[in-house]
Formats: sequence, C-alpha cells, structure tokens
Amino acid sequence: KTITLIGAPIEEGSGRRGAAMGPTALRIAGIDTVLAELGHTVNDEGDLRPLPARDLANHPGANNLQSVAAFARALDEAVHDTARKGHFPIILGGDHALSMGSVSGMARHAQDVGRPLFVLWLDAHADFNSPATSPSGNMHGMPVAFFCGEAEFAPILPKDRPLVDPKKVYQVGIRSVDAREREEIAEHGVNVFDMRAIDEMGMAHIIRQIVDEVRAANGLLHVSLDVDFMDPELAPGVGTTVPGGATFREAHLIMEVLCDSGLVSSLDVVELNPFLDDRGKSARILVELTASLFGRRILDRPTRAA
Ligand code: ARG
Ligand code: MN
Ligand code: MN
Ligand code: MN
Repeated sequence: KTITLIGAPIEEGSGRRGAAMGPTALRIAGIDTVLAELGHTVNDEGDLRPLPARDLANHPGANNLQSVAAFARALDEAVHDTARKGHFPIILGGDHALSMGSVSGMARHAQDVGRPLFVLWLDAHADFNSPATSPSGNMHGMPVAFFCGEAEFAPILPKDRPLVDPKKVYQVGIRSVDAREREEIAEHGVNVFDMRAIDEMGMAHIIRQIVDEVRAANGLLHVSLDVDFMDPELAPGVGTTVPGGATFREAHLIMEVLCDSGLVSSLDVVELNPFLDDRGKSARILVELTASLFGRRILDRPTRAA
C-alpha cells in the first residue's frame, strides 16, 4: 500500500495539554519505519497547523470551538485528497475531536466511489455528546455525534456534507458513557460492544461479525483507535484512562483480523498524551498495533479461522 501520514497536533478538544505532542511521539516510536519494513510506501506529510476558525462565534458548550473547527476543516480536506489519490491515510493525533474531520473526509470519499462508509470506534468512550448533552464541553467527547449529524450547533463543515449512518458505526471497548449520551446512542442505533460484551462473547466473535457486515455491504471501513481503548496498565499515556480496558492480545487480534479482511480504508491514532506516558510505552504499543493492521503477523500465514 501507499500510506500517507498526516499529523494533527490538536489538544484543544481534550481539556488539557499534551496530546499535541502525540504525532511527534508516534514518529519517534518509529511508525514510518515499521510500515516501510512491512513493504509499504510511506509518505509523511508532516503536521497540519491550521489557524483558528475566526468565522465561528465562541460557543459556551463547545470549548475551543475555533481551534477544533480549524483541524476538522483541514483534515476533511487532507483526508479526502489522500483517499482520492488511492493512498491510505493514517492520522497521527492529537485528541479525538480530529475525527470530526477525518471521518467526514472519508465519508466524502465513500460517496465519490459509491460505497457505504462504516466506522469502527475503538474506545473506552462513546464520544456521542453534543454541546447540549456534554458534561465537560470538551469536543473530543463529540466526534461521533458530529459525523452522524447529531451536533449541528455551528457551521464547522458545509451542511450538505455526507453523514455517517449511526447504524454503520461499531463501538468496541466501551466502558464510560454519560447519562444523556447513553440515551442518544440507543436512540440512534449505534452498534455498541461494551467491555461486558467482549467478556461474554470474546473479541474474535465480535470482530468477525463486524468484518462480515462491512464485507456484505461492500463498505469502506474507517478505524478510529483511541489510546484509552486499551487497559491503562498497558497504555497509560492518555488523559482519560478508564480501568478494565482491552488486553494486549484483544487489541492485536482486532488488527490482525482487520488486516486479513482487506476492508480498512483509513486509520486515526488518537489521544496519545506523551506528557502522561511511561517511557514511551503507549506510543510503542500504538505503533505495534498499527504494524499488525498493516501485515505484521506471528507466523507467515493467515490466521486459521475457528
Ligand atoms: N464523555 C466524556 C466527555 O464528554 C469524556 C470523553 C472522552 N473522550 C475521549 N475521546 N477521550 O467529556
Ligand atoms: Mn475517544
Ligand atoms: Mn476515550
Ligand atoms: Mn438525537
């Protein structure tokens, strides 16, 4: 594959400092060399540095709206351009608000090629708040509502943009959902595999089911990987740790099955806060997981399905 790395040093969506160092830490952990060693062509476009969107008024329920909107707009363009060239975009975050832009760009690409866009959201959180429901006002808790068309409180992107059908959003690893967010995800039919579902069904069953549904619809699959999807013991470098997360093997298994599927079109790696990390541990694990998604395997043959 030809892979384009797009750095998105946004931290204004998260309510604390540090995630802006995420793209640098992922590069230092070797994301480009690992992908090149797997035989891919990697071009690194460097970091986006958009100026705040001064055309938007401040909003009391959406902290740092102008900065978040600027990244959303820049990524919508950059990701759409990358996908149109037939390249695979990997967005190096940066907080999760960046997915407003990356997913919107992929939604436009999916529309261009006449295929439905599915989103796999690997996260402790549902990120389905809007300014009306958010307890914090932090926009990294809002991207899923945004790309599903449920957070239209400001003209961040053109209003004729293609949206994602919430029934084509699969959330895995969820274990922290706010009260009103819970009602929203149920009402809109988001597919949620929470930690209990993983415990009861097993990750292998869940990821195969998702892959089968995307394949049956001839869909494109955007993967959005939040560091806090994993257990904090494994990946402490994130501002919103929640105990009881995915294990090392659960996380790798997802990536390995996704690799075999050939359906993944684009990837966000988000919420890494190197200021909170333990000697690069979380950055390294994110690079390892990316390697599994792009073809690193334990043995030189596909995993034999049970
Ligand atoms: N649900 C909380 C909020 O809306 C936390 C969101 C955390 N999101 C994240 N991408 N880490 O403020
Ligand atoms: Mn998130
Ligand atoms: Mn999260
Ligand atoms: Mn709603």
